[in-house]
Amino acid sequence: MALAADPSVISFAGGMPNPELLPTDLIARIVADMDRSTLQNALQYGPTPGYPPLIEALSHYLTEKGISLKNRSIIITQGGQQALDILARVFIDPDAPLLTETPAFIGALATFKAHGAALTGIPMDEEGMKEDLLAQNLSLLEPSLVYCNPCFQNPSGVLYSLRRKKRIASLITRYDCCLIEDDPYNELWFAEEDHPHTASMLQQVDGDAAICHVGSFSKIIGPGLRLGWLVGPERIIEKCSLAKQSMDACSSSLTQVCAHHFLEKGLLQEHVTSLRSAYAARARTMQGALCASMPEEVTWTRPRGGFYIWLTMPPRMDASKVFAYAVEKKCAFVIGSAFDPHGQNNHCIRLSFSHTPPEKIEKGVYILADAIRSFL
Ligand SMILES: Cc1ncc(COP(=O)(O)O)c(C=O)c1O
Repeated sequence: MALAADPSVISFAGGMPNPELLPTDLIARIVADMDRSTLQNALQYGPTPGYPPLIEALSHYLTEKGISLKNRSIIITQGGQQALDILARVFIDPDAPLLTETPAFIGALATFKAHGAALTGIPMDEEGMKEDLLAQNLSLLEPSLVYCNPCFQNPSGVLYSLRRKKRIASLITRYDCCLIEDDPYNELWFAEEDHPHTASMLQQVDGDAAICHVGSFSKIIGPGLRLGWLVGPERIIEKCSLAKQSMDACSSSLTQVCAHHFLEKGLLQEHVTSLRSAYAARARTMQGALCASMPEEVTWTRPRGGFYIWLTMPPRMDASKVFAYAVEKKCAFVIGSAFDPHGQNNHCIRLSFSHTPPEKIEKGVYILADAIRSFL
C-alpha cells in the first residue's frame, strides 16, 4: 500500500481500484442529498448486524442474483476482511486444522494464522481447488473450516468451474465442515459468457448447509467504505453477530447509509458495467505487454475477470531478488510466497492491473521483464 501510494512507483502491488475508477461524483451527490434525519441516523450507532435498509437492499440484490435467503441471515461487516476475522473467531480453536486453496488471499491466511489455525494448502488447477486432494484432506484431517475464493481468485485470477463448485459443495456437506466462500470479485467478469460461472456456492446447496458467503463493496464501490457482508445459515450468523458485537458494536452507519442509497437508486449496475470494461482493458494491456516482453521460461494466467495475473518463473528463481531490483527501477508487485500458507511459491509473482492506468502498465511490465531477465 505504501509503494502504491508513491506516485513515482508503477505499482502492480495493491489489489485496489485506480482512484479515477472510484464513483466520487455519485457518492458526493448521495451525501449532498441526505436530509437531516438521514444524516442523524448516519452519524449514530446502529444495530450490530447492520443498517436495516441496507440489509433489505442487499437481500434484494442477492435474491436477484439467484441466492436464496431461506434459512439464511446476513450481517454487514467492516469489509470482507472483518467477515473472515469473525468466522475465524467463531470456528478456529488453537491448532485446529483448516484447509485453504493455495496460493490464497494474504489477508485470509494472516487472519487464520492469527487465530492459531494449522493451515494445509490445497493446490489449484485451472478449474479451482483440486477436488481429489480436498477430499483426501477432509477425510484425513477432519477440519472445521475450508477457505476458497472461487471467482477471479486473488492472487491467481482463476474462475472456478461450476462443476468444481458443485463437487466442493457436496464434499463439504458430506464431511460436515464449514466452507468460506470469499467472493469480492464476483461482479467483475470481462465477458458476459462468463457471468453464469460466477454463481455462488450458496446456489449449489440448501439454506442449512454450512456455507458462508463473504461479499464486499470494496471492489465494486470503494474500499474506503469499509463495508462487506456475510451470508450463511441462521445458526452460524447468530454466533457471528455476537462475535461482532464485542469487536466494533457496529460497522460505520455513515457509509452504510451511502451504500444503501447506491443500491436503492440503482447506481450499482451502471457503475459496475463501466468497471468491467475498464478492468478488461487494463488486463488486455498487461497481457499484451507480457507477451511482448517476457522471456520464454516465464508463464502467466489469463484471467477472465477481477484484478490479478499470476506469473510463474522457473523454480530456481527468487521473486524477492527480482522485487528488490524492480523497486529500484520504480516498479512494485507482490512476491508469490506471501500467498502460500507455508511461504512457498517463491518463484511466483502476483501482478495487479487494477490500480495502474493503461499508459503506465506497459512501462511497468517492461521493467519487470528486464528484472527477471537479469536473474535468469
Ligand atoms: C479475496 C479477498 N477477500 C477479501 C478481501 C478484503 O477486502 P475488504 O476487506 O476491503 O472487503 C480482499 C481484498 O483484497 C480479497 O482480495
